[in-house]
Parts: sequence; C-alpha cells; structure tokens
Amino acid sequence: MRQHHTNTQFRAEQGPGREDELCEARLLDTQRAFDSVAADYDGPRGNNELIQRMRATMWATVQQRVPTGGALLDLGCGTGLDALEFARLGYQVLATDWSPAMVGRTQARAAFAGLESRLLAEHVGTHQLDRIQDEFDGIYSNFGPLNCVPDLRAVSRECARLLRPGGTLVFSVIGRLCPWEVVHYVMRGRLRRAAIRGRRGPTAVGMNKHTIWTSYYTPREFYRAFAGDFALERYQAMSLFMPPPYLVDYYRRHRRWCNAMGWLDDRLGALPLLRGMGDHFLIVMRKRDEHGR
Ligand SMILES: C[S@@+](CC[C@H](N)C(=O)[O-])C[C@H]1O[C@@H](n2cnc3c(N)ncnc32)[C@H](O)[C@@H]1O
Repeated sequence: MRQHHTNTQFRAEQGPGREDELCEARLLDTQRAFDSVAADYDGPRGNNELIQRMRATMWATVQQRVPTGGALLDLGCGTGLDALEFARLGYQVLATDWSPAMVGRTQARAAFAGLESRLLAEHVGTHQLDRIQDEFDGIYSNFGPLNCVPDLRAVSRECARLLRPGGTLVFSVIGRLCPWEVVHYVMRGRLRRAAIRGRRGPTAVGMNKHTIWTSYYTPREFYRAFAGDFALERYQAMSLFMPPPYLVDYYRRHRRWCNAMGWLDDRLGALPLLRGMGDHFLIVMRKRDEHGR
C-alpha cells in the first residue's frame, strides 16, 4: 500500500472552519477507493487464505453470541461474504456499505444464492446509521470498516439505538501495534510506512491509486468511544504471530511454519498484553441495561 498526497490534503491547507467539508471529501475518497476494487475483491486482495482464517473467528464469535434466526446488521459488508454465510446459517441479515459497488456485489451474491429473503443489502454508510429503523440482536463489522468512520461515538449511540436489550457488537478493527508490519517495512527501508499506524486521526493510505482514510486504534482507544453504551466483554489479537493478509505470498512459501504461528494466535491471542497487538483485533461488547451495567 502506497501513501500519497490527495486532493483532500490540499483542501485542508486552504483554511480552518472546513472540518465538515474535509470529512465529506475524505469519505468520498474512501468510497471511490473501495468502488475501484469491488469487482475483484473476492480474490487475493479481499479473501485470501489468511483473511479466511480471520473470517472463521468472526463467524464463530457471532454464532456464540447471537442465537441462530436472530437479526444481524453488517457494517461495511464489502462483497457480502460474511452476510451470505450468516444468511445461510439462518440469520436475517441487513448488510450495509458506503461503496455502492460493494453493495451491488452483495445484492448479486444474495440473488445468486437465492437468499434474498434473508439477506438485504443497502447503500448506507456507517456514518449514516440514523437512516435505519429496524431492531437487531447483533451488529458486526469485519476487516476495518470502522477504521474509516469519522465519529465512533456517533456509531456507538446509533448501535445502542438499533440493538435490542442485551444485544452484542462484534467488530474486527485494524490495530495500531502490528509487529509483522513494522519488520516488513523497516527491512525494505520504508520507515514512514512502517510507522503509519502510530499516527493520530485519519491517515491517507493508498490502495489501487486511490486513498483510504484510515484511523488506527488500540483496543482501549477504540473501546473508549463505546464505553457509555456498551460493556466490554473481550478482545483478542488477530494475525499477531501469523503474518497479516497482505503477506500471503510469504505465507504460501512458509506454510508449515506460519500455520504453527496461527496455532499460537489461537491459543495466546486473548492474553493480556498480546491481545492489544496484531494486524486486527476482534472486540466483543454488550449493550448496557437501563442501570448502565
Ligand atoms: C476491508 S473492506 C471489508 C469488507 C467486508 N467487511 C469483508 O469482510 O470482506 C472495508 C469495507 O468498508 C467499507 N467502508 C469504508 N468506509 C465506510 C463507511 N464510512 N461506512 C460503511 N462502510 C464503509 C468499504 O466500502 C469496504 O467494503
């Protein structure tokens, strides 16, 4: 992923008082970036072996927390791989995404599988959840859509409104502390790229000659935005010992050794200290009751 200057950075330099416009422009940059990759996102970029491994953890976690048949909301559904799996399992899924091209892919997937009665896909950004009026038993978001949303506190409030009492959030979020990434880029002399996750606030990350505006979080930083409405149940590292998904070629060359690393992820990823690291972290939160518990 290459970092480069964008129109929105240029606009930011034009003067103060333009925060909303800047935010809007960044959202559009990100939308264009994901629209541009939607057609081939199920290939190595968005669904390689390492991604599938993390997906399995997300699927199992949602199934443990939300009874089959319940209503699920997918935030940033991409091409609908998770949403279709949950629909197949018997859940009722509303899949949403800010990229119209991704939503189109999810709709086509639902139609192809004959599961349109259980999987509905709508073009709604996670910053626009006030447009949704249904009730859900669980809300999930996989592989970093929440890293692209400008105001996490607003997302927390909307999720609390949309969830039934006792409802659960299961999110996989791009973390700040990814040792693999630091080593990978430092060894190639790309020191600025190696340090990118240390930046505060929205950061321009290149993809397919476009820009994704990404905010990186530790689990604690992330949870702070949700703490008023949700109790923290658990979090765990994903791809801490295992290489991150964009190093899939390395994985393919060293499969046995990497699988042993994956075994360590599964056993040690939820331990204190380790659980705050990794390419992503998986965080589970429960909606607080009227007493705030
Ligand atoms: C890395 S992809 C993950 C897609 C999918 N969850 C998966 O597991 O394959 C991130 C997704 O987040 C979506 N996204 C980015 N910003 C968003 C926003 N503000 N609201 C909703 N979705 C957003 C992108 O369009 C993209 O589909």
